[in-house]
Amino acid sequence: MIVFNSSSEMTDWAKGQARLGRKIALVPTMGFFHRGHLELMQTAGRHADEVVVSLFVNPIQFGVNEDLDSYPRDFQRDADLAQQEGVSVLFAPDVDDMYPEGFQTTVSVSSLSRHLCGADRPGHFNGVTTVVSKLFNIVRPDYAVFGQKDFQQLAVIQRMVKDLNMGVEIVAHPIVREKDGLAMSSRNTYLKPEQRKTALSLSRAIAMAQSLFNDGEGQTTVLKREVEKEILSFPGTSIDYVEFVNQNTLEPMSIADNRTLLVMAVTIDNHIRLIDNGQLALISC
Ligand code: PAF
Repeated sequence: MIVFNSSSEMTDWAKGQARLGRKIALVPTMGFFHRGHLELMQTAGRHADEVVVSLFVNPIQFGVNEDLDSYPRDFQRDADLAQQEGVSVLFAPDVDDMYPEGFQTTVSVSSLSRHLCGADRPGHFNGVTTVVSKLFNIVRPDYAVFGQKDFQQLAVIQRMVKDLNMGVEIVAHPIVREKDGLAMSSRNTYLKPEQRKTALSLSRAIAMAQSLFNDGEGQTTVLKREVEKEILSFPGTSIDYVEFVNQNTLEPMSIADNRTLLVMAVTIDNHIRLIDNGQLALISC
């Protein structure tokens, strides 16, 4: 596996692959890999000849009071894991390489970025779309693989790629869960044992909503009340949002159907923010 820290070296390599007619799949990450990341890499490998994983904790997508400084990092462990997955290139640029002095351009997807996570984290999605645009220009991938846990991020990126004719095929990967249902996330490492139990409130609430829906309850006001009750029955939870949205447009739905996605963000003990989602029409998660 080659490690590139400089974007110009990365692009030179990518151009060489294109000349050889080899397809590239990119997995953009912020590192601290878990099984979910490894599955994204495996999916990337099934789509293209070469897999590039980017590892960059992107400062411009963190708000001032967010966890940029404490975000978990372990470069050597990540590099070993990526190598074991057969990744061709690990692209780990420095902040100065990505945002040199004078940098002032942002890419923004207006309305899709505003609600849900965007309402609680102003500027977050502009940071994501800007860095992902840069990664696409540097790595020149044919495919890029993103997890569905960050469903809004996925929708925003799909919109950006379409609107700006970026010509990258976005591959969505299903949420990867622990055995007990907790959606995998690098931030799960923040959870102490008691908080880890509380974190199950999200997947338990999704499973409950799926079961109510399958039993015939379609009113989202009723479903929302039950979901909120379930989450708040776990100690230390506060709800940032619980919404029932159309999975394609992210517009709220008052009557649930097979396209309805239950999306939520929950904060544990005032500082660990977790997100999760599930399609109502699927049983269990
Ligand atoms: O999902 C993430 O890890 C990040 O938002 C991404 C897509 C790598 C951009 O920094």
